[in-house]
Amino acid sequence: MLYRPPKQPKLPPFKKRQKTASVHLAVQDAFKFLAKLKNSSVDLIVSSPPYCMGKEYDKSASIDDFIADHRKLAPLLVRVLKDGGSLCWQVGHHVHDGVVVPLDAIVYQIFSEQKDLYLRNRIIWTFGHGVHASRRFSGRHETILWFTKGRDYEFNLDSVRVPQKYPGKRHYKGPKKGEWSGNPRGKNPSDVWEIPNVKSRHVEKTAHPCQFPVALVQRVIRALVKPRGLVVDPFMGSGTSAVAATLEHRLFFGCDINRSYVKIARSRLRKLKGGEKSHRPLEEPIFTPRGTEAVASRPSHFWTQSSLDC
Ligand SMILES: C[S@@+](CC[C@H](N)C(=O)[O-])C[C@H]1O[C@@H](n2cnc3c(N)ncnc32)[C@H](O)[C@@H]1O
Repeated sequence: MLYRPPKQPKLPPFKKRQKTASVHLAVQDAFKFLAKLKNSSVDLIVSSPPYCMGKEYDKSASIDDFIADHRKLAPLLVRVLKDGGSLCWQVGHHVHDGVVVPLDAIVYQIFSEQKDLYLRNRIIWTFGHGVHASRRFSGRHETILWFTKGRDYEFNLDSVRVPQKYPGKRHYKGPKKGEWSGNPRGKNPSDVWEIPNVKSRHVEKTAHPCQFPVALVQRVIRALVKPRGLVVDPFMGSGTSAVAATLEHRLFFGCDINRSYVKIARSRLRKLKGGEKSHRPLEEPIFTPRGTEAVASRPSHFWTQSSLDC
């Protein structure tokens, strides 16, 4: 049987959807923005906070500031989440002088002290490109910590299934012997997600120095929020979560303290509504070179695998 992707809710043409879609973007400090939201009003918070690494948008390069901010953020985030809502916090590593601190370890410690917040997955987001390290292995993953508020929560697995590697597998014993063993709708995508990061030639690249990809947020939204549910990103940067929420027909509230980033977010939404290609689809396979492209050809002085094996 042919693989059929999981059914997505049928969306009307974009022009019509605009009228019903509701997106609110603010130039504001995240703490003030969160303080203004109503108690238990949000279905999903998905965000990537500043890592305090001294980037252009960081207030400092100190891990102590990261910790202090997260101690303040945790109760604000939990207050606005609905019971059964989800909190997806995307972080990488704080690197200073070659010493690495996995930020999710800090986030986990602080967030799990909150009553009613339970970790459901530590999702590894892996990608192929980045800085080539010379004194340690090159970093090619970050994480998303997915917490739920309460024990009863939304999880729509069917909306995010992916094709099986071996769809033709059959039960080899028992009463179902000989029958196909996989789910015809596809398999669980697991907690390791390979999604290209947004580098210079990526269709989503803007002037923001550190975007996460739309597809990463799309998967989270499809699985964790019902259509028309409310998604919030208090550190929205270039508005990636706003684009993903709009594509997925969910409501969106977000803010960033930097006016020029909010401008970028608005322009991305305008492009999306104008029908311009604005994102890399979640379903698009990762590009594998055929070997015939100039950049995939090995110069004669490069080592082969056999010269590397010893
Ligand atoms: C890692 S970036 C988020 C990027 C975003 N996920 C995207 O795809 O573009 C963190 C963002 O937090 C913003 N930020 C820093 N401190 C803030 C604060 N106190 N309130 C709101 N936004 C803040 C920065 O301007 C930056 O855009």
